[in-house]
Amino acid sequence: MSSKLFEVSEAQLETGLRGIPVGYCTTSSVNPQKGLYYTGKPVSELAKQDPEDVIYLLFYGKEGTAAEREVFRNELRQRSYCAPKLLQQIQMLPREGHPMKLWSTSLLLCAMLEELGDYWEDALNCIACLPQIAATLINYHAGWGPTPESRPELGYMENFTQMLRLPNVDKERLTEVMRVFNVLHYDHGGGNLSTFVGKAIASGLEGLYGSLAGAMNALAGPRHGKANQDCLAFVRSVLNELGEDAQPEDVEQLIRRRLDNKELIFGFGHAVLRVEDPRASIFYDMAEKWYPAHPLVKIALLLRKEGTCVLSENPKISNPYPNVDAISGILLSAAGFSYPEYYTVLFGLSRCVGIARQIVYERCEARDGKGTPIVRPKYLYKETAK
Ligand code: MLT
Repeated sequence: MSSKLFEVSEAQLETGLRGIPVGYCTTSSVNPQKGLYYTGKPVSELAKQDPEDVIYLLFYGKEGTAAEREVFRNELRQRSYCAPKLLQQIQMLPREGHPMKLWSTSLLLCAMLEELGDYWEDALNCIACLPQIAATLINYHAGWGPTPESRPELGYMENFTQMLRLPNVDKERLTEVMRVFNVLHYDHGGGNLSTFVGKAIASGLEGLYGSLAGAMNALAGPRHGKANQDCLAFVRSVLNELGEDAQPEDVEQLIRRRLDNKELIFGFGHAVLRVEDPRASIFYDMAEKWYPAHPLVKIALLLRKEGTCVLSENPKISNPYPNVDAISGILLSAAGFSYPEYYTVLFGLSRCVGIARQIVYERCEARDGKGTPIVRPKYLYKETAK
C-alpha cells in the first residue's frame, strides 16, 4: 500500500499546484525556513565553489574526488565548442523584442543543429556550450561587435566574461560576481515554473534542447525570471525619487505611499520560502562588502530592512522578506553589468543546468529507469454560462 502524502481540497484548485507534491527531485530542495540545498548541502556552503564542481555535484549527486572533478572539467571543456553555423544563425535573429526571445530561439536552433537525441549527452553538450551561446547573443543584441573566441580552459564563467564585450568594466570583479550568480541560480527544487515546464515538455519525449527552449519561455515572464530585471527598474525608480542619501524613514514612507496606491513592491515574497532567501543574503553580503557606496546598493539595503518591516505589518503576507531578485541585478549593476534587459538571460544560462539534470532524471532514471509518463493532470469541468 502506498502511503498518503497529500489530500487535495477544492480550495486548492486554481492555486498553481501550490504545495501539491507531484514527484521527486534529486538535485535540490527548498526548505521554507532554511532555503535552497543542492544534494543536501546548503547553498551558502557552495556559493563560492567553482561552477564546474557544483555542476558535477548536481550531475553525479556527490562531490567527487579532485581527480574525478578534473576529468569532468576537461570533459565539459572538450564539449564546449558550438557549431559555427549555430553562432552565425544566432547573429541573424531579429533584434526586436526581449533578449529572452533570442535565448529560447537559440536553444531551438541547437535542437536543429546540435541535438544527438540522448538526454545525458545533450545535457552535457548543452551546458558546455551555453556560455558561448549567451555571450554571442548578448554581444550581437547589444551591438557590441563580434564575440571573441571561446577559451574554456579559463574556467566556465571566466570564459563567459572574457567573451562578453561589455564596455568599461572590471572583468575580474565581474567574473567573481558571475561565478556566484551562476552557481546560485542553477536549481531551485523541482517545482519552480521553468523547471516544471521543461520536465513537462520532455515528458512528451521532446528532446533536451526543445524542452529547455520551452522552459526558458516560462522563465521569461515577470513573475519568474524577468523579476530580476524588473527589480532593478524598481530600485532605480526609488533612487530617482529619493536620491542616494535617502534615510530609512524616507524609504519607509515611499513604500507606504506605493502600497496605498496599489503599486507593487518588487523583490519581496516567494511561493515556498518563509524567510529571507539565502541566495539574496549571500548577494547582500557581497554588495555590502564590495560596493557599500554604490547608490543602488545603498537603496537596496534600505529596502531590504524597511520593506520587510512594512510588509510584516500585513498578516495576509506570508513572506515579507526579500528574494534573490531583490538584489541580484543590483549586484550585477554595481559590478559594471548595468544592462538589465540581459539579466534574465544570465538567469537562464544558469538555470538550464538544473533543468537539464532534472530532465535526465525524469527521462532516464525515474521509476527504475522507465522514466515518468507524460504529464497529464486532471481539470474539473466547470460550466460558465455567459
Ligand atoms: C526560482 O529560483 O526558480 C525562483 O525563486 C522561483 C521558485 O522557486 O518558484
